[in-house]
Amino acid sequence: MAKVKTTFFCQNCGAQFPKWVGKCTSCNEWNTIVEEIIQKDSSNEINWKQSNNSVKKANKALKISDISITSENRIGTNNEELNRVLGGGLVNGSVVLLGGEPGIGKSTLLLQIALLMSNKVLYVSGEESQSQIKLRAERLAGKNENCLILTETKTQNIFKSIEEITPEVVVIDSIQTLHTDYIEASPGSISQIRETASELIKFAKETSTPVILIGHITKEGAIAGPKILEHMVDVVLQFEGDRNHTYRILRAQKNRFGSTAELGIYEMLNTGLREVSNPSEILISEKDDDLTGTAISATLEGMRPLMIEVQALVSTAVYGTPQRSATGYNIKRLNMLLAVLEKRAGFRLGAKDVFLNIAGGLKVEDPAIDLAVVCAILSSNEDTSIDQNVCFTAEVGLSGEIRAVNKIDQRIIEAEKLGFKKIILSKFNKISKKEYQIEIIKVSKIEEVYRVLF
Ligand code: TYD
Ligand code: MG
Repeated sequence: MAKVKTTFFCQNCGAQFPKWVGKCTSCNEWNTIVEEIIQKDSSNEINWKQSNNSVKKANKALKISDISITSENRIGTNNEELNRVLGGGLVNGSVVLLGGEPGIGKSTLLLQIALLMSNKVLYVSGEESQSQIKLRAERLAGKNENCLILTETKTQNIFKSIEEITPEVVVIDSIQTLHTDYIEASPGSISQIRETASELIKFAKETSTPVILIGHITKEGAIAGPKILEHMVDVVLQFEGDRNHTYRILRAQKNRFGSTAELGIYEMLNTGLREVSNPSEILISEKDDDLTGTAISATLEGMRPLMIEVQALVSTAVYGTPQRSATGYNIKRLNMLLAVLEKRAGFRLGAKDVFLNIAGGLKVEDPAIDLAVVCAILSSNEDTSIDQNVCFTAEVGLSGEIRAVNKIDQRIIEAEKLGFKKIILSKFNKISKKEYQIEIIKVSKIEEVYRVLF
């Protein structure tokens, strides 16, 4: 038996050290260095296929004009939202890492996709038993006869099954449960994750089989394991949402084969995840009569226009210090807007409680929602409702000026499509197309908006 070799790894960033230190010099975290046993038998180099070991030929350099383009062959996933985020489907030989909070629906999403696909899929689970997966699959819609379930955590055994089954797509749930024979550290440790991931990546590249990995995230929201994992894979997807709400957003954080501006929207039902192809319609709550304190904003999430409802409640503070709270919106930005309203427009909100909520449990970072936030607050404060056919899209500056936002035409088109009669935006926004059905109201100051509305 070879000599046991150990190295020290930072559990936060994956940096390697020859001896223990208190503070990681790479990420400056304290007490994150842990000793891990690595026992790599160099005579038996790690390879996804044992037989491949001896034949290892070097690649030749080629002129760029001589390289033949094998156009990225993509495998459609029969799931429009996922295809959109991936940039058109799974690229052959690509490795996709899907991260997200526990219980958000990562396993559900991938099992559902495996069941919807017409290709042969091997779903490897290290977290659930076959019968547990079967129970889950019963609830989901798809019925792929070629979807095979394997419960295994040792990569060598997984590769053995792959050789027998020859799947067209491999799903691993999750990378943190895998371990390889060549390293003695426990599953989920930095060196295991790095080694098992590189074996799978090698397998993907050599056989042109797409591999989808599920990754856990740390409590800070980063994908657990070495940061290098995100560099190694081709696509990093993030599945997010509020667990108390049903909407889930799939975002691409990195994509070597497409744009990262696209996003997919799903709704978690008891029959699995439903694709939401027209999100605006569901994000606006249905109401019969005029309610005060709500305003609709035409926002843009990635490339997709979304009409989002902003709800505000302004009431006289019961306790000494007024409360301010925001769900789905940056609280600092809310405080800023309140200060602008107080100072520039003369609204006395200093002694009022202000609560703000973005409907649907979404988190909005688009600054174009500012104007709707301001108007919802004013509507609640004045106890006067805003006409349901009016929507807003503009940023609010520190001096109370209404600022222009990007991709204005896309926002106007979405508002028009959903039947809004008026859209309020900044005077400084340049609109390319002139013939809109919707009435465009241009404003430059908060006071003007107030006059238009109330
Ligand atoms: P899961 O996919 O196990 O999450 P993850 O793999 O990200 O940890 O999802 C678990 C949650 O999804 C669970 O709380 C229940 C919910 N769920 C539904 O609402 N409907 C369904 O059809 C399924 C399968 C799960
Ligand atoms: Mg899971």
